[in-house]
Amino acid sequence: MITASAPGKVYLFGEHAVVYGEPAVPCAIERRATVTVEERSDGRLRVHAEDLSLDGFTVEYSGDGETPDVDVSPDLVEAAIGYVDAAVTQARDAADASDVGFDITVDSEIPLGAGLGSSAAVVVAGIDAATRELGVELSVEEIAERAYRAEYEVQEGQASRADTFCSATGGAVRVEGDDCRSIDAPDLPFVIGFDGGAGNTGRLVAGVRDLRERYPFAADTVSTIGDLVRQGERTLTEATGSDPNAVPDVVEELGTLMDFNHGLLSALGVSSRSLDRMVWAARDAGAHGAKLTGAGGGGCIVALDPTDETETALRFTPGCEAGFRAALDTEGVCVE
Ligand code: PMV
Repeated sequence: MITASAPGKVYLFGEHAVVYGEPAVPCAIERRATVTVEERSDGRLRVHAEDLSLDGFTVEYSGDGETPDVDVSPDLVEAAIGYVDAAVTQARDAADASDVGFDITVDSEIPLGAGLGSSAAVVVAGIDAATRELGVELSVEEIAERAYRAEYEVQEGQASRADTFCSATGGAVRVEGDDCRSIDAPDLPFVIGFDGGAGNTGRLVAGVRDLRERYPFAADTVSTIGDLVRQGERTLTEATGSDPNAVPDVVEELGTLMDFNHGLLSALGVSSRSLDRMVWAARDAGAHGAKLTGAGGGGCIVALDPTDETETALRFTPGCEAGFRAALDTEGVCVE
């Protein structure tokens, strides 16, 4: 039996613009999905999931299309099982063991579909645990590649490499097209607000595409996001190896850029009343900056605040279901 875990992520900057070839900077956060895998000899899969913002469920099936008989929303179960299945397919392929079955337990601290990369973390940890259980140790790069293929398959081609690469490597990452690399970043004091909902990524991406095609100034807005991401990268680079006492200035500048990024995402129509309310609650509480993270429309915001003020303010903000601290996680996928 092997247990592996992998982190979720926030976008420090650049979501949506990354779809048009601009760079983006996702950062892994200290909220992890943990997957335990044990081989079974009968070729069947048994999946037990807890804390997936679902009620938790257990299903046992042979993977031949039979519908699991469980007591939670079929859509949610189907989505969760789709990712676990795709991870199992990748692990079987990597270990050249197409008939092997598993008992799988998933335990995640990352809300589902809320812009925090929950599915990527489950897939990354699942591939690592299942291959190790079969005696195969993949490199972090190979886990990232196979996790991307799994997400690509489940999301019918609508997957970027950002979530899976970031979850596999941990830390801060720079993504531009298919080019993903780790970058240095100081310890960033992330605080997250969650409105309990989720946006429809496909619809939100299509909305931005439509605006961009219709108005040159919307296209300019997308490339301006690229400009601020490049500025953010310079700020992070300057912070690396510098006097640790200079970090507050770095956090302040990153916060300013996050505020700017949120304004541009709002202009592109991907924020929402609850996201805006949480962003303003964070700013009013003294956060250095705040923005939505991920596709938008609902889900999570991320703020930078080394004090407890933002977390407290979010807890009292109407429409905010959870406010929590989740510092930059430099540890990617690992065995527990
Ligand atoms: O909500 P998430 O974490 O899946 O992020 C979506 C990010 C987008 O840039 C809007 C889409 C994408 O695939 O990059």
